[in-house]
Amino acid sequence: MIDPANQQPDDALRPHSYDGIQEYDKRLPRWWLLTLYGAMVFAVIYWGYFHAYGFGVLPVQALEAEMAKNAALAAQKAGEINDESLWKMSTDPVANAAGKVTFEATCVACHKPDLTGLIGPNLVDNQWIHGGKPMDSFKTVNEGVLAKGMPAWGAMLGKQKMSEVVAYIFSFHKQGEEVVIVPVWTPPAIVAPPQ
Ligand code: HEC
Repeated sequence: MIDPANQQPDDALRPHSYDGIQEYDKRLPRWWLLTLYGAMVFAVIYWGYFHAYGFGVLPVQALEAEMAKNAALAAQKAGEINDESLWKMSTDPVANAAGKVTFEATCVACHKPDLTGLIGPNLVDNQWIHGGKPMDSFKTVNEGVLAKGMPAWGAMLGKQKMSEVVAYIFSFHKQGEEVVIVPVWTPPAIVAPPQ
């Protein structure tokens, strides 16, 4: 019911009538108009900020960036060098072939082409000076044992080649085999001949 006291003078009756129902020509409330025009202004700013000029990062783009970051992290993790990855590499013929090339170019002078040792220790027996895990050897190859005549190869070979060459050494070993830690390597040439 319309309260006649509330009726504004500009609330003229609209001329049409539907099934006897008539409407007042009421102005839309100010708060309602404000939300409407506000939404329009917001839309233009939003469109300009995110779409036309690309200042903002859309949720889709943010997601894509996050996914790319995760993929990079996963790749980095997959490329992480550890005992497991080196053991795995030691059964990979391609990596071993590459490791053999590096070994023959840089290591044979001291470790002999069959890896049985000369100036440097035998790398195919189960005796180790610095530990019998692939990462132990990786560390020795990377940092060297300068005082004992084993050069540091890290800077020269880089991670990939060092991984391959260590994998090549460990292709002569079995995971879980017995490891004997020895204090020094006695080159065969200076083993005293039998009396
Ligand atoms: C100039 C001689 C020389 C060259 C070249 C050389 N090594 Fe060595 N290497 C040594 C000596 C000497 C030791 C023993 C160090 C010690 O007594 O602590 C050694 C130790 C090692 C060990 C540790 C063995 C153990 O028992 O713990 C590994 C692994 C190794 N070398 C790998 C390599 C690889 C791979 C290359 C080539 C990239 C290489 N070496 C090149 C002299 C050499």
